[in-house]
Amino acid sequence: MADTKRTATLTLDGKTYDLPVLSPTVGPDVLDIRKLYAQADVFTYDPGFTSTAACDSAITYIDGDKGELLYRGYPIEQLADKSHYLEVCYLLLNGELPNKAQMADFEGRITRHTMLHEQIHNFFRGFRRDSHPMATMVGVVGAMSAFYHDSLDINDPWQREVAAMRMIAKLPTIAAMAYKYSIGQPFVYPRNDLDYASNFLHMCFSVPAETYTVQPALAKAMDRIMMLHADHEQNASTSTVRLAGSSGANPFACIAAGIACLWGPAHGGANQACLEMLREIGTVDRIPEFIARAKDKNDPFKLMGFGHRVYKNFDPRAKVMKESADEVLDLLGVHNNPLLQVAKELEQIALHDEYFIEKKLYPNVDFYSGIILEAMGFPTSMFTPIFALSRTVGWISQWKEMISDPAGKIGRPRQLYTGAVARDYLEVENR
Ligand code: ACO
Repeated sequence: MADTKRTATLTLDGKTYDLPVLSPTVGPDVLDIRKLYAQADVFTYDPGFTSTAACDSAITYIDGDKGELLYRGYPIEQLADKSHYLEVCYLLLNGELPNKAQMADFEGRITRHTMLHEQIHNFFRGFRRDSHPMATMVGVVGAMSAFYHDSLDINDPWQREVAAMRMIAKLPTIAAMAYKYSIGQPFVYPRNDLDYASNFLHMCFSVPAETYTVQPALAKAMDRIMMLHADHEQNASTSTVRLAGSSGANPFACIAAGIACLWGPAHGGANQACLEMLREIGTVDRIPEFIARAKDKNDPFKLMGFGHRVYKNFDPRAKVMKESADEVLDLLGVHNNPLLQVAKELEQIALHDEYFIEKKLYPNVDFYSGIILEAMGFPTSMFTPIFALSRTVGWISQWKEMISDPAGKIGRPRQLYTGAVARDYLEVENR
């Protein structure tokens, strides 16, 4: 963060205040208002943080107008093409791409952390069979702090490292167990001879009664889905993790908070909501009815999988995901799937409709990921858990960055109070 010595001037009630201008390595300048309240006795007002930088970060950069996403400076398209998920995890956590020895060491450590404490199996059994896997994940990840006492001290860098390894390694196991539990099948233990994505498919789809062979092309598509979801700057769930972490809460509790936030349909839950919407539309001839609803100000309906707070050109992840969707559907021989036809037609109509063009609403990553996951055999309830396990590395990287910053403060927004002014308590007989 370069201090340019430039200032912006705020004039209020005849007095002027200088606000330092901070320049990032790339992106818009930032006005430093940290001393504003002390100096001018005013707060700034920005619900939804549309113009507010809540922290500085060197992990991920998004240019919403250009449709650009960089992890530690590397474009997402290059990583999706040339890298793999665990390499991206290393990059996000450590800031640089690993050399061969570093990669082998990292992969080895992650692989040896994939099993869960056996007693956690009992914990799963306390949930109702029909629990949504996200509900189970919020509970189980939060409960990890009751099982891994030796990685709870946030002031010990080694413990922070171990907590990070544990979560990246165990989240796929937890997500797969939540799924198996919900369909009444036995839990499947991880296999150390499989890569990260293949192991996840194995834990979801194999059963003890027969051999399951992971198709490499599907494992590659899964790995790519994970890479595309690995981090996304200060989105709602990441900000939740940071806010929870700013109080000194343990890392497992913070990630559980992030999972809870991700679940909402305006965020990670959109992939499930999008596929359910495609099912509800059902046939191409009903699309105009839903487009009309999306445009109707009196109807709360939104086209799920469209729009983004930051991307106002296109979502670069969606572009890559669309290519992956075509590859997976070709591989699986899914061509006449009615859902796919509805999705393709909806995409075309929305891309050419004045309302969507004017408001810069493009298909986002969730629009295509659901189509791939459905073709792979995942039920819609697993879409958001897959997003959650992929995003865990981003949450952890951002949490670690925040904790290691000596200037860190507890997150404590202020408010524009609109309630009653001070008044005296009335005895019940006088109300
Ligand atoms: N369908 C129809 N209209 C939309 C849509 C949509 N999907 N998204 C936004 N709009 C309209 C809004 O009604 C608003 O109209 P107005 O200016 O007439 O009031 C305008 O476009 C701006 O939208 P906002 O909701 O103000 O934009 P915001 O940045 O707050 O919201 C969000 C972004 C939450 C992603 C929104 O576009 C949305 O709800 N999309 C559908 C859910 C979705 O796909 N979420 C996934 C996001 S990506 C992710 O989390 C991985």
